[in-house]
Amino acid sequence: KAATVSAALRRPTLIPKYIGVGRAFSTSPIAMSTTKKVLMVLYEGGKHAKEQKKLLGCIENELGIREYIESKGYQLVSTTDKDPEPTSKVDKELKDAEIVITTPFYPAYITRSRIANAPNLKLAVTAGVGSDHVDLAAANEKKVTVAEVTGSNVVSVAEHVMTTILVLVRNYNGGHRQAVNGEWDIAGVAKNEYDLEDKVVSTVGAGRIGYRVLERLLAFNPKKLLYYDYQELPPAAIKKLNDTNKLLNGRGDIVQRVEKLEDMVSQSDIVTINCPLHEGSKGLFNKELISHMKDGAYLVNTARGAICVAEDVAEAVKSGKLAGYGGDVWNQQPAPKNHPWRSMDNKDHCGNAMTVHISGTSLDAQARYAQGVKDILESYFSKKFDYRPQDVIVMNGEYATRAYGQKK
Ligand code: NAI
Repeated sequence: KAATVSAALRRPTLIPKYIGVGRAFSTSPIAMSTTKKVLMVLYEGGKHAKEQKKLLGCIENELGIREYIESKGYQLVSTTDKDPEPTSKVDKELKDAEIVITTPFYPAYITRSRIANAPNLKLAVTAGVGSDHVDLAAANEKKVTVAEVTGSNVVSVAEHVMTTILVLVRNYNGGHRQAVNGEWDIAGVAKNEYDLEDKVVSTVGAGRIGYRVLERLLAFNPKKLLYYDYQELPPAAIKKLNDTNKLLNGRGDIVQRVEKLEDMVSQSDIVTINCPLHEGSKGLFNKELISHMKDGAYLVNTARGAICVAEDVAEAVKSGKLAGYGGDVWNQQPAPKNHPWRSMDNKDHCGNAMTVHISGTSLDAQARYAQGVKDILESYFSKKFDYRPQDVIVMNGEYATRAYGQKK
């Protein structure tokens, strides 16, 4: 159920009014008198928002920045009512908004048509990392700046990647299921259980997250670490990995860049995907590419669901071509009940390590991206536009990063 919320939780005297499927609360009289508007779209916290005050990323807590935004003379409208276009609250409110704040966890798709219908829109801020839910080409054409809080949750995601790899390789779910179900069939679990040590692990994308995954893998003494990326890792970063490997594992150089994706996946026991979603990565892991993977390899994707073809992955897990698939990102969020990745599994029920999109929204990460959004807004409100360079995705009609490819 979608909900629209503003300051009501902190202003109990205001009476909520209901609009469409969403709950909406009046905003302060001062804010209502201005035409300058910030629209914020976040997931619903419900009772959890009351239980856990650190849940800044939910609609009830509004990143903790309502008062700050209103102190700058802007009206803040916040909502969870993002679908469908064009009848949602987002469509209605975006029309005269100057700034929109969205999040990848519960993405309001800032599509070309929504941008076209929002003539005042100047800034789209992603509370988190990954702005593929904004039509970047359309933003460029309309000179809308798109910024995200780069780095805010990269450790959180790298930890989730490690968790997912271990859950799959160790067949944790199989063992856990027996523990809580009163069973004791060790062979039934162990037949699908391996060590991470001495395996070849690779990453598609060796940016902030991909590199942190490589760093963390060293603790498990892997056989080889491979990466595929059109940007080469700096020599110092490679040296650090190799030196650490020598120190920890007494082994020599461990990291290799691979020029061809097919060559990399065909050597890998485990492949992790850590690149942005863009025209060059959409549908990358399809039946054809998966056919180049080792039989019984694992695939872990915490980047974006649409980098994989959902049906092809589910089929590969079912057939045993992939021993397992896991991650937290879906090509549609919230994923429908009948999404193939919800029921995807193999005959031994150990091929699915999916979660809902949680990896980048740990409480620690929320504190960081809430602060980062405020910093971006401060640069905008002050008219200095002195954003941290790494936060800017597109600005003045141009891409400011190479991470999304070389699109026009
Ligand atoms: P980054 O910009 O530091 O690194 C991305 C790397 O991917 C760059 O080195 C880039 O050259 C490379 N790349 C781009 N397209 C590629 C392709 N087709 N093949 C191979 N490499 C390619 O970004 P960061 O911080 O590491 O994040 C990566 C992605 O992870 C984000 O764009 C986002 O989609 C996803 N993410 C997911 C989160 C979650 O909660 N599950 C949270 C944060 C990020």
